[in-house]
This record gives sequence, C-alpha cells and structure tokens, in this order.
Amino acid sequence: RGGRVAVIGSVNQDIVCEVARLPGPGETVLAAASRTNLGGKGSNQAVAAAKAGGAVQFIGRVGGDPASRSFRRSMTGAGVKTIGLRELPDGRTGTAYIAVAAGENQIVVDPGANFEWESDAELTAMTEAELLGAADVVVAQFEIPIRVVTWAASLARRFVLNAAPAVEFGDELLRLCDPLVVNEHELSAISGMATASREQAGAAARALCLRGARAVVATLGATGSVWVRRTAEPQVVEVVYQPAPQVVSVDSTGAGDAYVGALSSALAAELGLGEAVAFATAAASIAVRSAGTHTSYPTRAQIAAARTEVPPSCPM
Ligand code: RIB
Ligand code: NA
Repeated sequence: RGGRVAVIGSVNQDIVCEVARLPGPGETVLAAASRTNLGGKGSNQAVAAAKAGGAVQFIGRVGGDPASRSFRRSMTGAGVKTIGLRELPDGRTGTAYIAVAAGENQIVVDPGANFEWESDAELTAMTEAELLGAADVVVAQFEIPIRVVTWAASLARRFVLNAAPAVEFGDELLRLCDPLVVNEHELSAISGMATASREQAGAAARALCLRGARAVVATLGATGSVWVRRTAEPQVVEVVYQPAPQVVSVDSTGAGDAYVGALSSALAAELGLGEAVAFATAAASIAVRSAGTHTSYPTRAQIAAARTEVPPSCPM
C-alpha cells in the first residue's frame, strides 16, 4: 500500500485554447482549437498522486453544478477519496481560462467555490481536520485562501507547499515546508532573486532554505529541477541538480501538478528527497507528452519504466 497523502486545494474546469503564440497585452489572437478539461492545481495533484501509487484524500470546494459531478467521477475513478470534496449548493465550481502555445501556457483563474471555506472554528470541527492529521504528507497550493493553507499546514505531519500562484506568505508558513515546491517564476517572486540559470535558481532556493524552509524543490521546465535541503550543520545547505529527460512537449498544462503529486506520493512512501525528485521528474516528463491534465498523468508502473530515462542527479 502506498503512503497516505491528503491534498487540499482547488478544482477548476479548464477552458483551453490552442494558439500559435500567446497574446501580448492589448492583443487579440485566434485559437486553432479549444476544449474543456478537468483541472485546478488541487484536483490535478490529487489525481497525479493517486495514479503514482498514493492512498489519497482530497479536500476542496465545488459548486452545485454539473461540473462538480464530473470532478467527483474522474477523481474517484483515479482512486482518490472525495469525502472532503464539498459541494456548495449556491456556489460555482472554479474556472481556469488557459491559452496553450508551443508547449507554453498562460492561465487566468476565476476561483468561485475555491475561495468559499468555512470559518477556522468550523473547519477545526470537521472531518477534514482528521483527514489532514492522519496523512503522512499534506499537500497544498495557493488557489485556495492562505488562511486555509496555513490551517492545513498546522495539522500536517509533513507539509508540502506548492506556492502556485506565487502569493506573499510569511516565514512562519515557510518554516513548515518540507519541501516548498516552486517553478522558476514563483521562485524568483518569492525569493526576490534572479532564477534565469540553474545556478541562479540553486542560489535562490538555498536562500529560502536559510530563511527557514526545511527543503526547497525548484522545477526549471525542460532543464530539470534543483533541490536543496538543510543539513545537520547550521547554515549548511545541500544543493543538487536533477536533469530531466529530453521529450517533445505537447501540453505543459498541469505538468507541474504531475510533478508535485508524484513527489508527494513518493515522500509518503518514505523515499528520500533525491529519489522522490527523480520519480517526480519522470512523471512530469510523461504528462507533457499528451494533451490535458488528469488523463495525461502516469501510473506508478509507467513512471517506473520512464525512470530509466531520467539522467542521474549531481551536486551543484
Ligand atoms: O497547474 C495547472 C492548473 O492551473 C490548471 O488545471 C488550471 O486549472 C490552473 O489551476
Ligand atoms: Na499533459
């Protein structure tokens, strides 16, 4: 049996437009095709973690609309437990407007029910609190209110924060991250440092570790990822670079979620951070090869097979 993962986060219906290139400010472009997908960083990560072998509970908020039922079906089908997925009769399920061009994407989210949570006192009395406390790993992102993320972190045995989208948060929350997972843009926004090269990203991730995070994983797209971890010695941080296999990216939407989900499920199964990063790298490299989110996420066996393509990590 896989380790127990609780994912708390967003559910969005994704409206995806394929464009030749992303529009600039004030510009109109025509889409070559469009489709509707199940998404939201929370629901994506829960499905990715379950397919990767974790025993996953999902906690989130949807509206009383037909979209919410497609979500429950897809998540349950992937093996995710949805007791904590509450339907708000008067709410609307979140929507994400996504433009995809040549493997790059641009996303605007209308959060709807993702921002309608109970008061702290009500949450504490709910089943959700028990689910979070019982998990080996709790995972959250910032498409739900920061107060809910902070509440979940306070109940977690091990807390993984995917700080996406990058919002400002305090060092108290940073200190609970084991690891904080960010892409190069979020890493730059949170650290205030440049992250254009992998060396710069490594230095920025190291700075966040020295500021309090127990570990930081920074994904750098096709380049791979950098992970850093505090050592037993104060002020000493280990910095490791994990290359990614070279693949043709068809749709990078939700690839970061495939990474975070697989990483969390590996950590819950007690793999070390370096092993978990290699596993997550393999998962994301499969997810980008086909369109969509939930349906493009690999199973544990598929990840294990792709793991042989992942180049070994090296200290920076
Ligand atoms: O990370 C990708 C996800 O971000 C999409 O599924 C979209 O819903 C947005 O939340
Ligand atoms: Na995909």
